[in-house]
Amino acid sequence: MENEYYPYINLPLPYEYDALEPFIDKRTMMIHHDKHLQTYINNLNDALKDCPMLQRLSLAQLIRKSACLPQNMQTVIRNNAGGVYNHRFFFDLLINPAEERPCGKLAAAIDCNFGSYEQFKSAFEKAALSVFGSGYAWLVLRNGRLRIVTTQNQNNPIEWGMCPILAIDVWEHAYYLKHYNVRADYIEDWTQVINWSQAECNFQTSMGCVKSISKVMQ
Ligand SMILES: [Fe+2]
Repeated sequence: MENEYYPYINLPLPYEYDALEPFIDKRTMMIHHDKHLQTYINNLNDALKDCPMLQRLSLAQLIRKSACLPQNMQTVIRNNAGGVYNHRFFFDLLINPAEERPCGKLAAAIDCNFGSYEQFKSAFEKAALSVFGSGYAWLVLRNGRLRIVTTQNQNNPIEWGMCPILAIDVWEHAYYLKHYNVRADYIEDWTQVINWSQAECNFQTSMGCVKSISKVMQ
């Protein structure tokens, strides 16, 4: 991930604001990226400005270590480092036109873990719908197996040792302007713009990490 260290800047989206139309609208993308993500970046820089020790940690390290931070820093780091990481991760996994379904090794792993892509899609959509309030649904790799998990607010599964492969932001700010309160319609539209090549890349990187950890443990 680019710009992994303090001071954080709001990197441009890897596509135009209207690139995901008609599934995710231009205005939502502009506000989501330029206002919401920018606010997390500003808050994170502000929280870190007097903490040189924490400035040396990467974005992922900040999240992984958030439970060990001083009490007064835990929530602000979890919310804002998570807010930056999660949004960059989510935005990078969108593309239009998109491939209809996963490809490569990820496709085989999805079939192996969930039975078929259709069964995975249904379980993932159900999980995304089930998030109470604001949060995310994730496809993660944990102990070499794919799982679907959900998180509240800006929490991130890397804090609990999981490797994220795919994520959907189900905060209302991600869909309210176009889909109003109908999260199910937003989730269905989101499935039309998943960047499966990026998900495959995330999967292969995560599998590589698992293999190198197992080698060290042997
Ligand atoms: Fe968001």
